[in-house]
Order: sequence, then C-alpha cells, then structure tokens
Amino acid sequence: MAIAHVAEDEQALIAAIRELAQERVAPRAAEIDHTGEFPWDMKELLAQQDILAMPFPAEYGGVGASELAMVMAIEELSRCCATTGLLLAVQQLGSTPILLAGTDEQKKQYFPRLASGEWLAAFGLTEAGSGSDAAAMRTVAVRKGDTYILNGAKRFITNGGLAQVNTVFALTDPAAGTRGISAFIVDKDFPGFSVGRIEDKMGIKGSQTAELIFTDCEVPAQNLLGREGDGFKIAMRTLDRTRPGIGAQALGIAQGALDLAVSYSKQRIQFNKPIAENQGIQFMLADMATKVEAARLMVYNVAEMIDRGEQNFSQYSAMAKMFASDAAIEVTNDAIQVLGGYGYMKEYPAERMMRDAKITQIYEGTNQIQRLVIARALLTAS
Ligand code: CAA
Repeated sequence: MAIAHVAEDEQALIAAIRELAQERVAPRAAEIDHTGEFPWDMKELLAQQDILAMPFPAEYGGVGASELAMVMAIEELSRCCATTGLLLAVQQLGSTPILLAGTDEQKKQYFPRLASGEWLAAFGLTEAGSGSDAAAMRTVAVRKGDTYILNGAKRFITNGGLAQVNTVFALTDPAAGTRGISAFIVDKDFPGFSVGRIEDKMGIKGSQTAELIFTDCEVPAQNLLGREGDGFKIAMRTLDRTRPGIGAQALGIAQGALDLAVSYSKQRIQFNKPIAENQGIQFMLADMATKVEAARLMVYNVAEMIDRGEQNFSQYSAMAKMFASDAAIEVTNDAIQVLGGYGYMKEYPAERMMRDAKITQIYEGTNQIQRLVIARALLTAS
C-alpha cells in the first residue's frame, strides 16, 4: 500500500506491479482457483515484466531488488491472487540457498535463466516424516567419484515437477545430526529424478505441490552447495530470508479481503441503508484495517533489517510471518462475515481468500515453529 516506504528508485517498479496486478492478475484469480491449473500465463507475465528477476543480483541477469521491494511486490500480487504472489515468493525461496552458499560458477550457471523466468525454482526440504522437524529427513546422498547418488523423497514441494532447479537437502553423514545434512542443486533432468504424487489442496490451487523422488539420482559433485554438512544451516538461513515473503503473501491476501469488505459494505443495503452505516460493521472494518497495518509494519520492518545487512533478524522474520498469517486468517474470516451469505458463496472471492490464507500459517514453518524460533531467541539472548 504505502509505496513511499520503498527507496525512490524502486517506487515506480512497485507502482507498476500494483497496476499490473489489478489489471492483469485480478481478472484471472477466480479461474485459476476454479481450474486448479498452473497459471503459465501469469508466470509469463511476471517473467516479461522482470518481476521474476527481482531476487537475483544484476551481475547474473537479475534486477537485484531490495528485500523491501520484494515483499511489496509479493503483497501487491497476492492482494489480487495468492497463487500468482507465490510464483515470486518461491522463485526466491528455491534460489536463496544458491544466493547464500553458491559459488560464482553455480550462480552463473543457474541465475540468468531463473531471472529471465525461463526456469522455475523449488526448495526440497520437507519429507513425509520430516516437516516441523526438518532434521529428521531420510533422503541420503552418497559420494561416488565426481557424483553424489541421492535416494529418498521430498513431499509437499511447491513448484515440484515444474521447477528445473531444485535445491535439495540430504544426509551425507546420517550419524552427524544436523551437521550431517548437505545441500545440492538438482536439475529436473538429472538421471534418477522423478515426480510422484501431485497434491489436491484446499487453497492456492493453481500452485503445483508435488512429491520429488530420487532413485539413485546422479548429482554432479560440483552441484554441492557450500561444504558437506553445511546444508541445515543453509536451509535455516534461507527460511530466515524468505519467511517475510510469506508474511507479505498473507498481508496481500488480508488487504484484498479488507478492500472487498469495505466496498461491499458501502453497496449492500439492508434496513434501507448501506450496512457500512452500522457501527457493528464499522468496528469490524476498523479492527481488520488495524491488523493489516500492523502486519504491514512488521513485514516491512524485517525486510528493511535484511536490506541494512543486520545479522540477527531470525526472530523478527518469524514474528512477521506468524503475525501476518494469523491476521490474514482473522481478516478473511471477518470479510466473509461482512459479506454474510454472499461471503460464503463462490460468487465472491472472500471464501477463496480465506482458503488461500490458511496455508500461510503452515508453510515455511508452522506458526508453532515460528513461536519456537522467537522463544529460543529470547531465551538465549544475553
Ligand atoms: N541460522 C543459522 N543457523 C541456524 C539457524 C538459523 N536461523 N537455526 C538453527 N541453526 C543452527 C544451530 O545454530 C545449530 O548449529 P550447531 O550445530 O553449530 O550448534 C544447528 O543449526 C541446529 O539447530 P537446532 O538445534 O536449533 O535445530 P532443530 O533440529 O532444533 O530445528 C527448527 C530447529 C527451527 C525447529 C527447524 O527444524 C525448523 O525451522 N523447522 C521448520 C522447517 C520449515 O520451516 N519447513 C518449511 C519447508 S519449506 C516450505 O514450506 C516452502 C513452501 O512450500 C513454499
């Protein structure tokens, strides 16, 4: 909303994304939800407008956007369509391990085609038995000469099967706990890589969520990120950087629901007057707007901490994601209430917004895990 927050040179970019979202993305949102098909047209639109290039440094063909501009872009897209907002959030998530730990050669090899939008990225951490407990993974990687052989499976992977570039976490030393986990860049066409079950979800229906299966999958040793054993920390540092993006997705959904509730309440006549004239509705709208604004300040604040190069932002990232996603559920729920019976029907987007909001309390770490991250930071601070 508040474009003035971002540096002057990025204000035009965010204003253009807002216009694009309202004119080109919003009209597609209901259909994407209804068909559940991956929105290739939205992917192309974001690629053509260089929006998918935002997370990548200019020297590798990207836009090198600030983190603040990133969250504002995800917010604007998600305000109109959460599935489209997720395209940008996951392009960042899947490539951040390479940004943080990749060599110059790895960045040169992968970033230009990710930045152009030719390739999508995915982040392979979660497994069937390893969700909140990310260290409980079973996928193994065994080095044989110049190759690592991966065996195992990843579950609930956003963009799974569509992404050419998958950052995958696997055990190279199963006895070493979190220090035995390594990170790899796995191309979709490496031998032994296949796609399993495609999930049928409650919301973000156009986004593909799939299982990735590794059967003696051959990954060149040069695709190891950092050193053996660095993987868990790369995953945690990645999530610290990208959770604000999920906060921004939640914020955008909540803003969209607030916009809808305000405009509906001015038009809906009951008892011979717009329902907006009732204090019962006004108080709901005021609470919704306050939650949206508080979420916005938290998401923007942590993005600015990242842009300033601050090191200890992990808890603020968790707080922003947690608060914004809880706010999104409350605000979308209230929007349905303001719309009454119409809110419950698919004719209006309120129910879609609530279904889309729910995942933001779950992925990139459940809000219970965010509380754990925040509490640990509080209790270990000197
Ligand atoms: N940055 C750097 N290092 C970190 C770190 C951080 N934020 N957090 C932990 N570490 C380090 C610790 O310092 C420790 O290092 P040492 O070995 O040197 O001591 C090591 O990592 C292990 O840390 P913990 O003992 O704290 O690890 P843990 O097993 O207790 O797990 C956890 C911590 C926070 C619960 C972690 O498992 C977690 O974040 N779980 C949630 C996973 C998650 O968010 N999954 C989301 C999947 S992606 C997704 O959802 C995307 C999508 O679809 C769009």
